[in-house]
Parts: sequence; C-alpha cells; structure tokens
Amino acid sequence: MAKAGEKGGWKEFVWNPRTREFLGRTASSWGLILLFYLVFYIFLAGLFALTMYVMLQTLDDHKPTWQDRLATPGMVIRPKGSETIDIVYSIQKTETWDTYIQILDKFLLPYNDSIQAQKNDECTPDQYFVQEDSGDVRNNPKRSCQFNRSSLYNCSGLDNSRYGYEDGKPCIIIKMNRVIGLRPGNNGQAPYVTCGAKREDSNKIGELVYYPPNGTFNLMYYPYYGKKAQVNYSQPLVAVKFLNITFNEDVNIECKINANNIPAGSERDKFAGRVSFKLRINSN
Ligand SMILES: *[C@@H]1O[C@H](CO)[C@@H](O)[C@H](O)[C@H]1NC(C)=O
Ligand SMILES: *[C@@H]1O[C@H](CO)[C@@H](O)[C@H](O)[C@H]1NC(C)=O
Ligand SMILES: *[C@@H]1O[C@H](CO)[C@@H](O)[C@H](O)[C@H]1NC(C)=O
Ligand SMILES: *[C@@H]1O[C@H](CO)[C@@H](O)[C@H](O)[C@H]1NC(C)=O
Ligand SMILES: *[C@@H]1O[C@H](CO)[C@@H](O)[C@H](O)[C@H]1NC(C)=O
Ligand SMILES: *[C@@H]1O[C@H](CO)[C@@H](O)[C@H](O)[C@H]1NC(C)=O
Repeated sequence: MAKAGEKGGWKEFVWNPRTREFLGRTASSWGLILLFYLVFYIFLAGLFALTMYVMLQTLDDHKPTWQDRLATPGMVIRPKGSETIDIVYSIQKTETWDTYIQILDKFLLPYNDSIQAQKNDECTPDQYFVQEDSGDVRNNPKRSCQFNRSSLYNCSGLDNSRYGYEDGKPCIIIKMNRVIGLRPGNNGQAPYVTCGAKREDSNKIGELVYYPPNGTFNLMYYPYYGKKAQVNYSQPLVAVKFLNITFNEDVNIECKINANNIPAGSERDKFAGRVSFKLRINSN
C-alpha cells in the first residue's frame, strides 16, 4: 500500500495533471526560468566580447605593448642535432655528417644572394638602419637589409658544399635571437662573436676563422622592429670554421657575443649572450 502511494506521489511530482505542473513547476514558471538564464548568458557573452574588443583596441599590431627588456639576447648554433646541440661525427662515415650538411643547406636557403637581392635593401654598413615612426604616422612596412649567403665565404656552402665537414674543418653558424629595439654595440663598434675552448680543452681547439671578418654582426641589421613591421627581416649570421681542431677528443666550446652594452650572462640568465656545445670529430 505504502509502495503504491509512493509511486503515485513520484508520478504526480513528474506530471501533476491536476495543477498541470511538470517537476513541480507550471509551464510559465519554467518559461521564466529559461528566459532568465537566456538573458543572463547573453549578457555574460556580451560583456566578454566588449572587454575583448576594448583590450584589442589598445594593442598595436606592429609593436608589442609589453616587452620584457632582455638586455642579453640568447644565441643559437646551426647545425643542431634533434636532441643535443653537440656536434659529433666521423670524417670517414658520410652518414654521420650528412644531416649536418642538409640542415645547413636548408637553413641558408633564404640567405641566397638572389633571394636577398629580391627581398631586401643594400643598406649603408656600419650604422643603425633607423626607421622610426613619426608620432602617430606609421613608417610601415619597414625595409630590411640584405644578408647575403656569400658573405659567409668558406662557410657559405657555395664553393665547398660540405661546409668543411668532410675534411675535419667544420663550419658552425651562430645567430643571436631577435630582440625588438635592441641596438647592440656601442660608439659605432659592432657586436662580434668570439669562440674559445673551456679551459681544459684550450690546447685542442686550434685556429678559428670567422665570417664575416672578425665575426661581426653589422650595425645595419639593428634595430629590429618586429615580425609584423619588418616582414622580410633576415637575422645576420656569423660562421666559425675550425681549421685545426684535435681529432678523436671531446672539445668543449663556448661562443659569446661581445658588445659594450650587452653584459655577458646576466644574473637572470647566465646563458644569455653565449652558447656552449661539444665538438668531437673522429678521424676514422
Ligand atoms: C640557393 O643557392 C644554391 C647555391 O647557389 C642553389 O643550389 C640553390 O638552388 C639556391 N636556391 C634558391 C631557392 O635559389
Ligand atoms: C648580395 O647579392 C646581390 C646579388 O649578387 C648583390 O647585388 C648585392 O650587392 C649583395 N649585397 C650585399 C650587401 O653584399
Ligand atoms: C619583401 O619581399 C618581397 C619579395 O619577396 C617584396 O616584394 C617586398 O617588397 C618586400 N617587402 C619589404 C617591406 O621589404
Ligand atoms: C677559403 O679557403 C681557401 C682554401 O682553404 C683559402 O685559401 C682562402 O683563404 C679561404 N678564404 C677566406 C676568405 O678565408
Ligand atoms: C677586424 O678587427 C681588426 C682589429 O680590431 C681591425 O683592424 C679590422 O679593420 C677589422 N676588420 C673588419 C673587416 O672589420
Ligand atoms: C695544428 O695543431 C697541432 C696541435 O694540436 C699543432 O701541432 C699544429 O702545428 C697545428 N697546425 C697548424 C697548421 O697550425
């Protein structure tokens, strides 16, 4: 008996034909609830859209609004293996250095002289290429300077398509990460790269040669105005060729950028402005 009554109560709760209530509410009550939530969510969506719109209005497509002014840009080397940045190969085994050649070929492709001539300007060297906006008048798009592959001479892969890997005199290419607005160097002195061995390896590194001469990043490639403003920007490169490195031994190398206004390795990031890697060439 009690069971039947309960069952009837439950059924009545779902649909009460007497009061015409569904789950305890009339149709108009349900309608009001749905209407309330509908209006509420439309209001929330509208508020979100308005906030986004206002925020986006304050952004400038061509310049970051907030920039972490990192005074010491990071440096990277090419070729770089998939897991480590160490370069280890055997001269006799082509397959151990073949990928390095491919990486360099691919990396240098956009620097082909013909492509650079098409995309970029021949700038006046040894001075900053300044293209500031004047007040609200945008000086966009901004031009960029040519960095020709051929300026890497014996590391350009043009005369020696193997970048010296086959005769144990490999080239390593160094670039400095882009920092918007950075004007490296000081008093007309361009920043330059120097590489050396870690102390215990100092007698193994042998003679080095840098391209362009002195390993400089010419001032004309700075300041950089950002991807949107300077669409064709080509980061300048420095190549280092190891002319007489000791074979069959690990040689720990560190390359760093020298510029009066780039402190080597700030407190925040001791690897900024420098890059370290191991080079080992096996002669067999
Ligand atoms: C770039 O230059 C190299 C060497 O001259 C050539 O083999 C290659 O086809 C060129 N690539 C393009 C895209 O021009
Ligand atoms: C780059 O190469 C092109 C084509 O050979 C040449 O016209 C141009 O003068 C070179 N630019 C620089 C900066 O050397
Ligand atoms: C970028 O390069 C293209 C050719 O690839 C050229 O037509 C264009 O004018 C260049 N733009 C700027 C801003 O240098
Ligand atoms: C390039 O290599 C050749 C042969 O090793 C050498 O004679 C020449 O001086 C090198 N060029 C430069 C600019 O270092
Ligand atoms: C390289 O540096 C030396 C000494 O600092 C300087 O005399 C020479 O002119 C520089 N060469 C180039 C091409 O900048
Ligand atoms: C190459 O380095 C070795 C020492 O590792 C040295 O004995 C030799 O004279 C160097 N060769 C040249 C051409 O500098």
